Amino acid sequence: AAAIGVAVLGLGNVGSEVVRILREHAQELESRVGAPLVLRGIAVRSTEGDRGVPAELLTTDADSLVARDDVDIVVEVIGGIEVPRKQILSALNAGKSVVTANKALLADYTGELAEAAEKAGADLYFEAAVAGAIPVIRPLTQSLAGDRVTKVAGIVNGTTNFILSAMDETGADYADTLAEAGRLGYAEADPTADVEGFDAAAKAAILASIAFHTRVTAADVYREGISKITSADLDAAKALGCTIKLLSMCERVTNGDGEERISARVYPALVPRDHPLATVNGAFNAVVVEAENAGRLMFYGQGAGGAPTASAVMGDLVMAARNKVHGGRGPRESKYADLKIAPIGEI
Ligand code: HSE
Repeated sequence: AAAIGVAVLGLGNVGSEVVRILREHAQELESRVGAPLVLRGIAVRSTEGDRGVPAELLTTDADSLVARDDVDIVVEVIGGIEVPRKQILSALNAGKSVVTANKALLADYTGELAEAAEKAGADLYFEAAVAGAIPVIRPLTQSLAGDRVTKVAGIVNGTTNFILSAMDETGADYADTLAEAGRLGYAEADPTADVEGFDAAAKAAILASIAFHTRVTAADVYREGISKITSADLDAAKALGCTIKLLSMCERVTNGDGEERISARVYPALVPRDHPLATVNGAFNAVVVEAENAGRLMFYGQGAGGAPTASAVMGDLVMAARNKVHGGRGPRESKYADLKIAPIGEI
């Protein structure tokens, strides 16, 4: 079959791993897809210096790369909101499929992007946006499409889980542990999005939207971070047979009038030591899903990092490419339910 052209937007931790896998495993990927996957170009902020890829693949003009006739699938791993939003929309509107790892963008625009994809008959895949390598989007949108999900509870931020696990283990205080996380490369120079729960809230919005077939944005998610957690809090938790984890909790709840509501919240929670989520340590992520018929499922693994996140991107890319070759379509958006968010006092 004719080659499938791929454009990669961004050559950071994830983008460079995606490019590496595409180049190293071209033959195997071709046999999985049924056509060669050909990298047409990589959009970067600057083409200066040796980026470890053939210079002729690099461009600072992402818009023209997305618009090229020989680009069938756009992989967005550049981050930001407004710029990638426009690029993804123009790709989808032109019938190109899109794979993105952009949780901040999806948290607020899943609806708009999914509608554009639907209208153009294109695919929008985003397994890498939540919990890195861990398959959680596909189980929710496909494997459980015939069930009724009641709860998605998870540890979806590796940085804060590293900090809380280390505080629990060593008895060190928050500030020292955060500094250590920075030295080890877990926390960013500005760790606000992680420690104040914004990153987890974006992921909760995505999980709640797909689990309950509704539209939840980051602003709908009640959010508390971990910056006020002290070593005394962890001691108190221990005395109760618990540890403290930053949980991202999405569930169906029923209010006093018997109406179904969605609750989505991110907060440091006491987790009993014998609960499976209590054993998730370091920068690992885990997500527990409960569904009416499936019962409880648990997903565990590496939730961040270049290669693990690139694994999820590549899975999506292979699916999108197969659909281009064989005429299929990815998960369709269901007609979404207009479920309201429960006020926090009602939970
Ligand atoms: N900052 C995020 C984390 C990266 O710590 O989990 C992965 O989304």
